[in-house]
Amino acid sequence: MAENIVEADLAIIGGGPGGYVAAIRGAQLGAQVVLIEEDQLGGTCLNRGCIPTKALLETAHEYQKLDTLAQRGIKVAGKELDWAQALAQKDKAVKTLVGGVGYLLQRNQVRVIKGHGQFVDARTLLCRQSDGSESKIQAERIVIATGSQPKGIPVEGIDGQRVLSSTELLNLPSLPQSLAIIGGGAIGVEFASVFHDLGVEVSVIEALPNLLPTMDADLGVFLAKKFSKQGIRVEVNTLVQGLRDIGSSEEIRIKNKDGREQIFQAEYVLLAAGRQANTAGLNLAGIGLNLAAGVIPVNEYLETAINGIYAIGDVIGGIMLAHVASREGIVAVENALGHKVKADYRSVPACIYTHPEIASVGLTEVEASKHYEIAVHRFPFQANGRAVAVDQAEGFVKLVSEQKYGQILGIHLVGPMVTELVGEAGLAVAMESTVEELATTIHAHPTFNEALMEVAHAAIGSPIHNL
Ligand code: NAI
Repeated sequence: MAENIVEADLAIIGGGPGGYVAAIRGAQLGAQVVLIEEDQLGGTCLNRGCIPTKALLETAHEYQKLDTLAQRGIKVAGKELDWAQALAQKDKAVKTLVGGVGYLLQRNQVRVIKGHGQFVDARTLLCRQSDGSESKIQAERIVIATGSQPKGIPVEGIDGQRVLSSTELLNLPSLPQSLAIIGGGAIGVEFASVFHDLGVEVSVIEALPNLLPTMDADLGVFLAKKFSKQGIRVEVNTLVQGLRDIGSSEEIRIKNKDGREQIFQAEYVLLAAGRQANTAGLNLAGIGLNLAAGVIPVNEYLETAINGIYAIGDVIGGIMLAHVASREGIVAVENALGHKVKADYRSVPACIYTHPEIASVGLTEVEASKHYEIAVHRFPFQANGRAVAVDQAEGFVKLVSEQKYGQILGIHLVGPMVTELVGEAGLAVAMESTVEELATTIHAHPTFNEALMEVAHAAIGSPIHNL
């Protein structure tokens, strides 16, 4: 059989939000681009992560909201959830967006080759399709964008049939009665919120002292209180000791840092204890590319130790977020094609789609205090007109600034629509804006984002709606 050889200027392994964005940027810069993907385009984000969870979150939120309508004078008779329909709606959203990525790649004349890619040498990839056919791709520049997968933990019984990954949980044929979640990071708390709002009894077990331990501590503390009030069981400073399948449910043994042991049951367990880079099966060792702590090391231009080979997204560790991967894709490809751009992580927003929402950008209070003389100010949504009008007056905006010039270092939010407000906060951090600039920018009334201006008023010493 004649060997199928494809030549390209740029080859990309992985079609997630890192890889497909990199491919489009490469095409815009005039390169002939090949993208290798073994599954669906869009990666974890579109198929198993950000998008399907947001679709279900909306369902859960609407469902839960029905309970609050009576206070607005709306009487609803009966409430029933059609889980199969909820999943169908989620799948439709995913299909639309995955189709959109395919269309964009086609329009940019990116050649998509379906199959598993691996290195033959530093300039050649072998792509093996599921039907056994093979092609070789030769390219002077290669970007590795293979993403990550859920990480296991060394706990007895963790391989049980009722212990699910977030992907499996998203496709359960029926809603469980109860769910125990191992890990109070981004996945853990988002799934806790969704399934609680759908009427499932939820417990969250987090090893560290706070939920969302990498974010500003005030956010996790607020969320834990809110979750407890909503009826979600939250156990922080707690490790799972063991799991046991007892037929129709799972028995979970936990122990907190004071040594107190508890045993409880849940129909399913979600393992959300972090993710690990997808580096296996690429033959990285074969080309002399070594891993460090399980990820591919890169320099600030996102180039690996091998000239011409770049890596982006979850596979390089760092901040494992879709929007970071997309930016890294653009940076890596621009560098691969002759530009010189550094990856800059000073203004990376993080959004947690719980109920209420959480968002953050820039330095936490603790991080900032290591480098600057800081000031910290808060503004509660209780004093925000729109939040009160729509009965969502909970949460706050926390502003961390440095004292000398008033430069905004970090903004941390919990409350209504804060995953949208963080856009403005991100711009303020990226532009090194001062509290005075934010305070003197007229914000529309009534909006949730007036809270950003108000917290800046507090920071310049003239809070208007000070409670
Ligand atoms: P994560 O690293 O955010 O959180 C894992 C949590 O599990 C940590 O808080 C850790 O302390 C805890 N943990 C680890 N081992 C444990 C144990 N044995 N017992 C109890 N707790 C344990 O990882 P997660 O939530 O799995 O998310 C994976 C990646 O996906 C993260 O990088 C996250 O940022 C990203 N992601 C982002 C989302 C967003 O931005 N909205 C949504 C979902 C995921």
